[in-house]
Amino acid sequence: MLDLVVMVSGGGTNLQAIIDKINNGTITNARIRAVISNNKNAYALERARKANIETAVVSPKDYPDRELFNRALITKIDSFHPGLIVLAGFLVVIPPALVEKYRYQIINIHPSLIPSFCGKGYYGLKVHEAALERGVKVTGATVHFVDEGTDTGPIILQKAVEIKNGDTPEVLQKRVMQEAEWVIMPKAIDLIANGKVRIEGRKTIILD
Ligand code: GAR
Repeated sequence: MLDLVVMVSGGGTNLQAIIDKINNGTITNARIRAVISNNKNAYALERARKANIETAVVSPKDYPDRELFNRALITKIDSFHPGLIVLAGFLVVIPPALVEKYRYQIINIHPSLIPSFCGKGYYGLKVHEAALERGVKVTGATVHFVDEGTDTGPIILQKAVEIKNGDTPEVLQKRVMQEAEWVIMPKAIDLIANGKVRIEGRKTIILD
């Protein structure tokens, strides 16, 4: 059984998709050990509580500097002994020491088709604003392993989503979540939990 620690900052719809798909058997061999947020007001924490999942808050506001926050975050994550750390809308820069300690055991969902509209400064609605501003016809979402860069680790799954006339960033964000994020994040977890993801250099191979 793969123990997940899910990291969240906001609404937690990706967390909800994971909870639902564990409960209905779409994700097998995995359970959520804890949900951790940097934001004590994140609605994601409420979703976790409703599902009887342990929660924790580690906020940068409670520490005098970044180094102490990073250390506290790692200590908290360690305490749950995760097999996989899932960044489900966690909008905090990940400490390099965490990446090193959990090499290929951290995954992230990003709301575009990497390598478009990703990297520093691209998160949440900003990603969809940039896609609309550039006038692309197709966008989507990507699940990838986390390395030291921003959105640069090996890609696990991607799903494309059509852009429609009249889309606003908010409308597009919702479509990308519904059609792509809530599908590929749970699927990636199920694949990893069942030993079906192999990493080869910068790539992943999905085994059938
Ligand atoms: C999601 O759209 C996720 O892809 C994005 O934040 C949102 C969180 O929504 N993540 C990033 O932009 C990471 N760079 P949620 O809290 O409802 O799951």
